[in-house]
Amino acid sequence: MAAGIPIEVTGLTKRFGAVTAVEDLSFTVQPGLVTGFLGPNGAGKTTTLRVLLGLVRASEGTATFGGTRYADLEDPATKVGASLEASFHPGRTARNHLGVVATAAGLPRTRVQQVLEQVGLDQYADRRVGGYSLGMRQRLALASTLLGDPGVLVLDEPINGLDPEGIKWIRGFLQSLAREGRTVLVSSHLLSEVQQSVDEVVIISRGRLVKTGTLSSLELDESPRTIVDSPDRAALGAALTAAGLGFTEGRNGFIVEEPDPGRVGDAAFAGGVRLNSLHRLKSGLEDSFLTLVGEGTE
Ligand SMILES: Nc1ncnc2c1ncn2[C@@H]1O[C@H](COP(=O)(O)OP(=O)(O)O)[C@@H](O)[C@H]1O
Ligand SMILES: [Mg+2]
Repeated sequence: MAAGIPIEVTGLTKRFGAVTAVEDLSFTVQPGLVTGFLGPNGAGKTTTLRVLLGLVRASEGTATFGGTRYADLEDPATKVGASLEASFHPGRTARNHLGVVATAAGLPRTRVQQVLEQVGLDQYADRRVGGYSLGMRQRLALASTLLGDPGVLVLDEPINGLDPEGIKWIRGFLQSLAREGRTVLVSSHLLSEVQQSVDEVVIISRGRLVKTGTLSSLELDESPRTIVDSPDRAALGAALTAAGLGFTEGRNGFIVEEPDPGRVGDAAFAGGVRLNSLHRLKSGLEDSFLTLVGEGTE
């Protein structure tokens, strides 16, 4: 196995015509850890990974493996394994597909059987990929990234579409790859999907960095709050202000800086405001995530 190399994204901007998919994005990903690259659909994850892998050019900034662009890596297949939007020839078998990839990358064919076993696909290896479930395709995509036994793995939404057993398996598998010293970057639009397998998170929203850090730092940011909504938001806002409660307007109502929904209800009652929802914002990771990426606050 090649040594894990850090991934370094610096001041990265990518525009597609009038669309700015990624804007001034900087983060690093260290070897030995699983890093979750998180953000809602359309946040710019795949675009960032495509720039990193040299599939599209950056408008500004760089994305490198320890300072070297993918295109400038020597023997890239043995250093970086990547899977983006897996597409397979439906008429080929998994063994066939991997053989083609191995040959194209100058890797020995003996690796094919090894990676098939590693991802638990060996008993299905001679079936046509067209008949594969989404979970089996995900395993095949993962197998192809492992062919060169690389020190860096870049996986775009590898958990999407897996069944619960597959999710459990991939979590442990990613962790063991990282424990061997590899750099493992895994994108997902759902924090809950990767929560149990990531050490670090890089969170983006609308192309911009929102947060980097350990998974646990995400939770500590959050103090309990209350969500409240009314058919008459203007009146509700006035009632909260009159009661001295701070709040921000979110998509699902007001997020009030007050852990006790009872106090918020009292404030509305005192102002004669009818409510259609009132509950505590759960202080969980998923809520922190949704609040950070704007789903809860806009
Ligand atoms: N080739 C492209 N041409 C135009 N817009 C694009 C292209 N690729 C991505 N985008 C836009 O860039 C934004 C980010 O997309 P993407 O990187 O696929 O996000 P994610 O992977 O986080 O869902 C979206 O608004 C998307 O429509
Ligand atoms: Mg994507």
